[in-house]
Amino acid sequence: MANPFHNPASATIANLEAAFAVKMVSMAAKHTAPPLQRDRRMIMANPFHNPASATIANLEAAFAGESMAHIKYRYFAKLCREMGDEDTARAFEATAEQEVMHAFGHLDLLYPKARMSPAQALQFAIEGETHEYTEMYPKFRHTAVAEGNAAAVQEIDEQIAESREHAEQFKAVLEKAAKRFAALAKVEERHAAHYQRVLDQLA
Ligand SMILES: [Fe+2]
Ligand SMILES: [Fe+2]
Repeated sequence: MANPFHNPASATIANLEAAFAVKMVSMAAKHTAPPLQRDRRMIMANPFHNPASATIANLEAAFAGESMAHIKYRYFAKLCREMGDEDTARAFEATAEQEVMHAFGHLDLLYPKARMSPAQALQFAIEGETHEYTEMYPKFRHTAVAEGNAAAVQEIDEQIAESREHAEQFKAVLEKAAKRFAALAKVEERHAAHYQRVLDQLA
């Protein structure tokens, strides 16, 4: 889904397009902007990526497309509403909701429930957010400074701060969850020991 306002002379515009894509996707090899294709480490990879399967790669690209359509339509709705066209805004919002369901359908296949857990989901989220503020955005900021795009530098700085905050929030949730799992494991252990004692007495 190419940006119609794409400016081939601006690496910062290409970087913002890539950042938008990364925000939405695990991987979108066929739909990504040039910087993403040049530096594959910048892609927030699907941890279950299978290099042998073209279908998995297609699902990743489709997930990217549907996710971007969702956010783009919400943004278009916001613009239409600001311009006084409530009907068009609502049409965009209704379609955006359907795009979410299309993206969920792809995610069911890309992140199968059988291979996920809350801790695993938190871990993936922490990795993604950390990648954003330690690698992706710092590189993009450098380019934006070199191009003298002050608006993009400011926006990227805000994103760096937010991604760091998101990573920290997810880490805190994961730590709390880990304590809960540890406490549960202890209770299970006590129960198991109790049953064993009863069994031993019966024997
Ligand atoms: Fe769709
Ligand atoms: Fe984030």
